[in-house]
Amino acid sequence: MAKFLVQKCDPLHGEIHISGAKNAILPLMAAAILTEDHCVISDVPELKDVTVMEKILESLGGKIHTPEESILDIDMSGLKTNVADYELVRKMRASFFIMGPLLGRTGRAKVHMPGGCTIGARPIDLHLKGFKALGAEVIVKDYYVEAIAPPEGLTGAAVYLDFPSVGATENIMMAAVCATGTTYIINAAEEPEIVDLANFLNKMGARVKGAGTDNIKIEGVESLHGAEHTVIPDRIETGTFMLAAAITRGQVLITNVVPDHIKPITAKLRECGVIVEVSDEGLYVIADQNELTATNIKTLPYPGFPTDIQSPFMAFLTTVEGASTVIETVFENRFMHVAELNRMGANIRIDGNKAMIQGGKKLEGAQVIATDLRAGAALALAGLVADGTTEISEIYHIERGYDNFISKFKSLGANILRIDD
Ligand code: EPZ
Repeated sequence: MAKFLVQKCDPLHGEIHISGAKNAILPLMAAAILTEDHCVISDVPELKDVTVMEKILESLGGKIHTPEESILDIDMSGLKTNVADYELVRKMRASFFIMGPLLGRTGRAKVHMPGGCTIGARPIDLHLKGFKALGAEVIVKDYYVEAIAPPEGLTGAAVYLDFPSVGATENIMMAAVCATGTTYIINAAEEPEIVDLANFLNKMGARVKGAGTDNIKIEGVESLHGAEHTVIPDRIETGTFMLAAAITRGQVLITNVVPDHIKPITAKLRECGVIVEVSDEGLYVIADQNELTATNIKTLPYPGFPTDIQSPFMAFLTTVEGASTVIETVFENRFMHVAELNRMGANIRIDGNKAMIQGGKKLEGAQVIATDLRAGAALALAGLVADGTTEISEIYHIERGYDNFISKFKSLGANILRIDD
């Protein structure tokens, strides 16, 4: 298995360009199922998860080609099945996003249950609640989920989400765009990736209103046509590089950023004494001017502090003198990185969904394991300031979700090597 060797480095300096958002491109690719026309998506990040989604769409009969770098031309006119390939689906939880568009376009969808993962059970009850509300019969058997619309097709309905689930909001939105009548998603997720999907669907001829609020109204239309779209920048990659500048006490200019999407991260870093300046060029993160101080974070659905930045932010807090707390409210098991950070000399105690960090102790390089995508990034950040070498295994998590992770860090002065065992 491949590993990262991370050496202690000087404060990071330079400029970094943010790629298209992983959590936007995956539902956008799934939405292309809804039309027989070509969909052309630009600023597509180079990620293993994108490759998996391409293979899933091809297994359904789709044709995908790359006319230019970071542009995908998706043609789903050859859709030949509405049963997803188990071997491909099991590789990536986000493959469950094909359920809604398959149901919306063909009236039937059969997809293997998405696996849970280290951060939680990752149930799909809210997705299924939405499909049922639209009139589909849902059968869960032999670890497959099958949704079948009635002969007259799906009918718009009001769906209350007990939790503002990102995936459920996206899946239900994609199933509802061609339903007869109007659908209301109440207590919907408000993430920027939801807005990006709604904008794409509306370019395809859908009538989605209210995306970005907790109430989304979808008026069903006859059919959708092709569209062109550019993926929004990745706010989580942005936060990761903001924290790379902060943890190394460097100065980094981050371009291709939507400042509105990272307001909680900016606010908390400023509370710690990091200077964050927004200019026409991009986002300047300056972390070598002030003595940095501890703070407390609590993850919440958007626009609250993003759960995906919880572990990278915790890595940063281990290097700041004083007591900080991190409360995780979105996933039930997203502290797997704590044991790994403590192996590097951090002093973190867990009490339920709260982690107490006594920051300021020197970190030591160690052999650690990436337990999920963002935990892997957190360990790489810690490795930048830990004495000696930090060896991170299970790095496929990181390569699934960060575009050119190593080369981007190297361009800022980091010393990270990828080795194959
Ligand atoms: C999306 O996952 C993201 N993934 C996650 O990013 C992100 O952490 C998460 O949203 C929250 O922002 C993609 O977009 C591909 P949820 P998703 O449904 O849709 C509960 C990363 O690192 N829930 O909003 O799976 C669930 O148990 C990944 O990039 C139900 O109870 O997240 C969890 O506690 C990690 N029933 C909470 O909602 C359901 O039917 C949030 O899950 C669905 C979810």
